[in-house]
Amino acid sequence: MDRLRIEGGLPLHGEIIVSGAKNAALTLLPAGLMSDDGLVLENVPRLADTLSMEGLLRHHGLAVERDGDVVTMSGTANLLDAPYDLVRKMRASILVLGPLLARYGEARVSLPGGCAIGTRPVDLHIRVMQALGAIVELADGYIQARAPQGLTGGRVVFPMVSVGATENALMAAALAKGQTEIVNAAREPEISNLAECLNAMGAKITGHGTDTIIIEGVTNLKTARHAVIADRIEAGTYAIAAGITNGRLTLKRANARHLDALINVLRETGMDVVEGDDGLTFSAAERVSAADIITDPFPGFPTDLQAQFMAMMSVADGSSRISETIFENRFMHVPELVRMGADIKVDGGTALVRGRKNLTPAPVMATDLRASVSLVLAALATEGTSEVSRIYHLDRGYSDLEKKLGQCGARIERLSDGGDNEDE
Ligand code: UD1
Repeated sequence: MDRLRIEGGLPLHGEIIVSGAKNAALTLLPAGLMSDDGLVLENVPRLADTLSMEGLLRHHGLAVERDGDVVTMSGTANLLDAPYDLVRKMRASILVLGPLLARYGEARVSLPGGCAIGTRPVDLHIRVMQALGAIVELADGYIQARAPQGLTGGRVVFPMVSVGATENALMAAALAKGQTEIVNAAREPEISNLAECLNAMGAKITGHGTDTIIIEGVTNLKTARHAVIADRIEAGTYAIAAGITNGRLTLKRANARHLDALINVLRETGMDVVEGDDGLTFSAAERVSAADIITDPFPGFPTDLQAQFMAMMSVADGSSRISETIFENRFMHVPELVRMGADIKVDGGTALVRGRKNLTPAPVMATDLRASVSLVLAALATEGTSEVSRIYHLDRGYSDLEKKLGQCGARIERLSDGGDNEDE
């Protein structure tokens, strides 16, 4: 298993090009199943998760070719089964459900099973398909969905905001007969990125980016060439890297409109944020001050940046209250940060972080993607040598992490022990 050795305590200075968004790519790739004549996606990051989704699409029968960050999909699906072995590796595999069902009238997708950051059910995905007229059964650990006459538009009212279920709803409704209204839809930028791609393919979707989306179903979709947006979570992570190390980083391609909630909080901590022509510059001239956050669906503070922000609060001046409202059990980075000397007390969904001037280096490991990167950030801020293990989690969501940080002055090295990386 690979690990990272980090000699911390150095301020980071320089420029980082933000990659394409993992979460946008993970919903745009399955849209390739819906086209009659292929789909070309640009700016698709090369990550364990996107490669895994490409593998799943190949399994279904698509030809998927990658040339750098451009992925070309063509052909039609001849296998409508997404098996456990592929789905268990990545929960986003559930995003093939809507496309397969809408285009082929049938899908069989394994239930994702347990997940390190909470139970994460898929009931909303199932309810969407039922609202559009599908017959759904759960048997042998699989979601079996059928719509032999095709899906029919309907009104989908979400009891809670779900990014993935909104994406599945958009894709399913794009090829349903008649109109669909999605109420309490997710407003994340990834949703608009998907809606714009589907519209370029011939779909008729309006209202994306708001909480009510209207879809007029069409009979078929054609090819398009579409670019994945920049990864706001990767950008936010490096913005926090600038703050936690008292450095200055320019993040090329970062989009301020996707990062409002973070930018507001970082300014509260005393950081300086400057918008340029093609990106944002984040800097912290001195030790950051404490600030409180509550995670919320977009445009609120993203849960995917909570762990990173907590790492920064561990060394901030003052006390910070961090409330997690999206996922239960998303504080698994806390015991590891505490091993590095952080003062954090968790009470239910809230963590109270009392900032310390310095943390102490330690060997740490984490159990999910964002938790792992929060430990990398903590190690970057800590004088001495820390080791972060189980970094295959990082490879799911950060492309060229060591290279990007290394060229900004971080002393970070990947060590390999060999062995199998897969355990989730
Ligand atoms: C997506 C992101 C993930 C991010 C999350 C919240 C991708 C690939 N992943 O995950 O990085 O952390 O949004 O911003 O885009 N829920 C249900 N039933 C369902 C579906 C969800 O109860 O059928 C609950 C979840 O347990 C969670 C909440 O809804 O408490 C939000 O989850 P959701 O927005 O669906 O997250 P994902 O789409 O899985």
